[in-house]
Amino acid sequence: MSIFAKRRHEVMQLMGDGVAIIPTAGESLRNGDVHFPFRAASDFYYLTHFPEPEAVAVLIPGREHGEFILFCRERDPEKEIWDGRRAGLEGACEQYGADDAFPFSDIDEILPGLLENRDKVFYCMGANPGFDNRLMTWVNEVRSKARTGISAPAEILDLGHILHEMRLVKHSEEKALTRKACKVSAKAHVRAMQECRPGMNEYEIESIFLHEFRRAGSESAAYPSIVAGGENACILHYTENNAELHDGDLLLIDAGCEMDGYAADISRTFPVNGTFSGEQRALYEVVLNAQQAAIDCLKPGVSWNAPHDAAVRVLTEGLVEHGLLKGAVDDLIEEGKYRRFYMHRTGHWLGMDVHDVGDYKVDSKWRELESGMILTVEPGLYVSAGEEDIDERWWNIGIRIEDDVAITSRGCDVLSSDAPKQADDIEQVMR
Ligand code: GLY
Ligand code: MN
Ligand code: MN
Repeated sequence: MSIFAKRRHEVMQLMGDGVAIIPTAGESLRNGDVHFPFRAASDFYYLTHFPEPEAVAVLIPGREHGEFILFCRERDPEKEIWDGRRAGLEGACEQYGADDAFPFSDIDEILPGLLENRDKVFYCMGANPGFDNRLMTWVNEVRSKARTGISAPAEILDLGHILHEMRLVKHSEEKALTRKACKVSAKAHVRAMQECRPGMNEYEIESIFLHEFRRAGSESAAYPSIVAGGENACILHYTENNAELHDGDLLLIDAGCEMDGYAADISRTFPVNGTFSGEQRALYEVVLNAQQAAIDCLKPGVSWNAPHDAAVRVLTEGLVEHGLLKGAVDDLIEEGKYRRFYMHRTGHWLGMDVHDVGDYKVDSKWRELESGMILTVEPGLYVSAGEEDIDERWWNIGIRIEDDVAITSRGCDVLSSDAPKQADDIEQVMR
């Protein structure tokens, strides 16, 4: 709990005379009385570690009766028999360090009072439209008391400016959770390589990931797993995962689990039958070299865009070498011709959200990497069938190699290195 208290303290130091309001996620109805699995909002969980729905954290620096207030569900023995245990108001204070706790059902009565005579409200507008409206109702309620001498907040500021910069630079315990998520996910990738056979279905391979994730205590996959054989690998966010795997095809898997809120995001590509064909290996080596060139750039002070530029150069050179692009490499890069086969970027921030928060540019310039940031490095090449000017032997080759990398004081640390990626190593594992 001291970690979360420290984070709240850090936010409050940057808030001045403001109030921060941080709701958790809403519950979403699947059908009837069945909900989709609940996951706390990342900002809320980052500051509270409180896992239940129907909860709102309020931070009020300098408040005499306590700076951290939690609205949450009250204990209810009958409901708890049906829906599970609740921390209740007492648990909110004793287990989660709240200075004060109030019933979530009373929030409309209590929250306006907490906004009185405060200059600013810090809040992430737009993430939860229903809650945005409630906040405006509370602010208006305070405004309506102006004649009694009570002042209402004059500004609503984006809490994300403060909080997301904090979330971008990870502390050691966050890196440890990401490493754990990577280790569990990498183990599943190895098992997928070992168990894959022609004639199996994509969903059978997906089940290996679900099994490895849950048996290691992961709450769930960090995003819908992509298990894409043959031509499906050329659909970047393919998630149907219900086609047969054919001898001679590649299998692209992009799957990672979440560990206490922290995501792994790993992609590996391997031959369904255990042996790369000549064309598959040729393009695989291009992607692998592009990924290594990007990883070689990673250290503090380097521009966010440097690994992408490095990967694009190696990919474009490879495409020219193998005759998929024609012309001078510099011109092909300048004109973006490589985008026909490489249409996404080389990475993104990784953390509690798989595409994590944090700005990529500061003052309109790509930001510099800092120790503690975690990002993915995930170049790929995708040659769909029907590319008429491309020899058919290259068709239906979709390759992505994705690792999760933490920036350290001296360079970087590849957290997902347990998943093999050298072509020979993959063939060895598959044998
Ligand atoms: N799994 C989503 C991504 O790689 O960005
Ligand atoms: Mn991915
Ligand atoms: Mn990714």
